[in-house]
Amino acid sequence: MASTRDSHQILVASNRGPVSYSLREDGSLQARRGGGGLVSGLSAIGPDAGALWVCAALGDGDREAVRRGVGEDGVRMLDIDAAVHADAYNGIANSVLWFVHHMLYQTPVEPVFDAEFRRQWAAYEAYNRAFAEALAEGAAPGASVLVQDYHLTLVPGMLRELRPDLRIGHFSHTPWAPVEYFRMLPDDIAEQVLRGMLGADRLGFLTHRWAGAFTACCDALVGGAGDTRIGVHGLGADADFLRARSHEADVEERITALREEIGTDPDGAPRRTIVRVDRTELSKNIVRGLLAYRQLLDDEPSWRERVVHVAFAYPSRQDLAVYREYTAEVQRLAEEINEQYGTDGWTPVVLHVKDDFARSLAAYRLADVALVNPIRDGMNLVAKEVPVVSDDGCALVLSREAGAYEELGDDALTVNPYDVTGTARALHEALTLPADDRAERTKRLTAAATALPPAQWFLDQLHALEA
Ligand code: F6P
Repeated sequence: MASTRDSHQILVASNRGPVSYSLREDGSLQARRGGGGLVSGLSAIGPDAGALWVCAALGDGDREAVRRGVGEDGVRMLDIDAAVHADAYNGIANSVLWFVHHMLYQTPVEPVFDAEFRRQWAAYEAYNRAFAEALAEGAAPGASVLVQDYHLTLVPGMLRELRPDLRIGHFSHTPWAPVEYFRMLPDDIAEQVLRGMLGADRLGFLTHRWAGAFTACCDALVGGAGDTRIGVHGLGADADFLRARSHEADVEERITALREEIGTDPDGAPRRTIVRVDRTELSKNIVRGLLAYRQLLDDEPSWRERVVHVAFAYPSRQDLAVYREYTAEVQRLAEEINEQYGTDGWTPVVLHVKDDFARSLAAYRLADVALVNPIRDGMNLVAKEVPVVSDDGCALVLSREAGAYEELGDDALTVNPYDVTGTARALHEALTLPADDRAERTKRLTAAATALPPAQWFLDQLHALEA
């Protein structure tokens, strides 16, 4: 597919790259390729296009790979000082910018922008500068550079100064905060973030809502977005890949194992399933999801013994205490529900925390109901993937605060993520949706979810940047 564009070089920059390394006991390095929209998107331009992906070394394995000169063609890992990276990634990107855009602060006590914050901000600047310099060094004249996400908000501005000849795009995979929340940041920092991003020729967002919030911040804080163009590209599910992958042998094996765990109801029929799959992420609202499930069992006791909440909550950002505490709370609550309601033959919550993609696909296939109830989410691809993969079609219970709501809202059962009672009601409604309605909705959800597959999503951004 390289044909559409071999005239320009393309560079991608993101914190997490397409490959990571771990050290085996014998000292050798093991490479692991990641997935996701960018990886499959970039494959659309083909291996001969000379693309360069600049990313950060994230762990000891990655750093060792850089030192040994091990790497993949087309990937440049930056061995940024570990302490600088930790302050930039954990301290600023994940504990400040992520919290601002997902509105996660408990505002009576946080955030506190003190001297420690300023020290970490300096690390964030240094980390952004390392990316800008590597891109400036690696880019051919007139190349197109696609910078990713809240980790790298300062890169477009820095790169523009170093290399005015480049076409620079930036894409936000998160929501964007409303003005009132964004301006919690110290004024100079808020301005630096906006001006950094406005160094790009074009900025991409997942939904009109997030693009509008960004524009509103620019209007309120820096006198508008100037010449920078703004576009919306709602990343869709990769239907071909998902359908093929979810019928491979390892997924079939996990379906058998999961069916065993789910079991049958008192009439001998397979129990109904409410499925959720998430990183254990504060914004995903897993705890309120469990509370809603418990309320369903209270309000509608007829579901006892007849339904199972299959919840996969995969560890994420465990360097941060608040994520570790949240993970523990998810596990504690799942156990509490199982103790309170479980019987000899029925485990009400089947919780798994060990990341297993094949098992996630198995759960997707078995889903009667998909529960996607984030507090706030850039898109949420699970909401798009389950309808595509589910064997018998599924009902989608979807938070109105997920980016996916913009495209899927009409055929989902919509919830306010804070309203546990309302979510319990929506779960009941989803479980009792008449078969023909469920089938029709699944068909429309699938069409909407796959409207912009990753390859097209990526090419659209590229073409728009170069237009
Ligand atoms: O949503 C933003 C994002 O950076 C995604 O691109 C990614 O899937 C997720 O957060 C994971 O974050 P991390 O790299 O911190 O594990």
